[in-house]
Amino acid sequence: MAIKFGRPIEARARLTPVETGLPADADRLDLPTRMRRNRRSEWARRLVRENVLTTDDLIWPLFVMDGENARQPIASMPGVERLSVDQAVREATRAAQLTIPCIALFPYTDPSLRDETGSEALNPDNLVCRAIRAIKKEVPEIGILCDVALDPFTSHGHDGLLRDGEILNDETVAVLTRQAIVQAQAGCDIIAPSDMMDGRVGAIRKALDAANFTDVSIMAYAAKYASAFYGPFRDAVGSAKTLTGDKRSYQMDPGNTDEALREVALDIEEGADMIMVKPGLPYLDIVARVKDAFGMPTFAYQVSGEYAMIMAAAQNGWLDGERAMTESLIAFKRAGADGVLTYFAPRVAEKLKQR
Ligand code: PBG
Repeated sequence: MAIKFGRPIEARARLTPVETGLPADADRLDLPTRMRRNRRSEWARRLVRENVLTTDDLIWPLFVMDGENARQPIASMPGVERLSVDQAVREATRAAQLTIPCIALFPYTDPSLRDETGSEALNPDNLVCRAIRAIKKEVPEIGILCDVALDPFTSHGHDGLLRDGEILNDETVAVLTRQAIVQAQAGCDIIAPSDMMDGRVGAIRKALDAANFTDVSIMAYAAKYASAFYGPFRDAVGSAKTLTGDKRSYQMDPGNTDEALREVALDIEEGADMIMVKPGLPYLDIVARVKDAFGMPTFAYQVSGEYAMIMAAAQNGWLDGERAMTESLIAFKRAGADGVLTYFAPRVAEKLKQR
């Protein structure tokens, strides 16, 4: 095998045991290259390490709910809780102290406020907007990302408007642009459309600009697959039981790769500042291909089911949770991601700070 850099192996002097002055050793292989030399000690491993994870790579998703001084565990996401707004402010403060650059907010909307059209999404005083304002007031230095999609607000649990069993595209986009404006008015820094309707990034960019929010960014859930790994998230936002049918008419088919590149290309054309691939680990090939093809700021979402799998195995004593967490996150960096949305964010940040 030829090596890429340096002299070809054949050109190197082959020293015999006699010339080296070493005793003849029948077992010793004559190897000009020994890969293990660089792995022998911690200092050497650190020196040659190609990818590192830092707290700057993290976006921390938080679930908010009504109430005061309240926290509610989510059974399928051990260690993750729904937080009342004041508690979300507390966690945002902690995130800033841990130098996590950005948080993502997801609402658990009271079932009484959910309807066919997800109208609560357009209420400027809804849970997400109240949380944005409260966090911006107390922790102005942290970035806030918000989903644009209707699923936490609809009685049927879909991301868009439903008519006769179909998710309407253009009618949904019209509502999503209004949702984006409402969130921008509340102070959201990054609008993240996660609905997978066609044309929504362009429509949202246009609406934001027209409303003078030219500085509000868009991170497009550009390649988002119809995945079983979103299960625990749907528990967290309360759409698991209400969801009728599945999301395969708008989220991508897990068998496709080229289609992901087309999705990403469209979102870039329409004005996305950053793009996201989702889920994470099962779709690392997509992350790598997207980063290679476009060189855009590229993010991966290590989704709820991925988090749940690692936590469940760790709780059973079947693997070392801390190490699995760190290893799963470095995999995203290796694949070319600029950052990761992960429920492990505070835990891994604490660990990185200790070093
Ligand atoms: C809503 C949305 C989902 C996730 C993020 N935004 C669920 C879905 O599309 O059904 C999943 C995140 C996770 O599983 O952690 N559009």
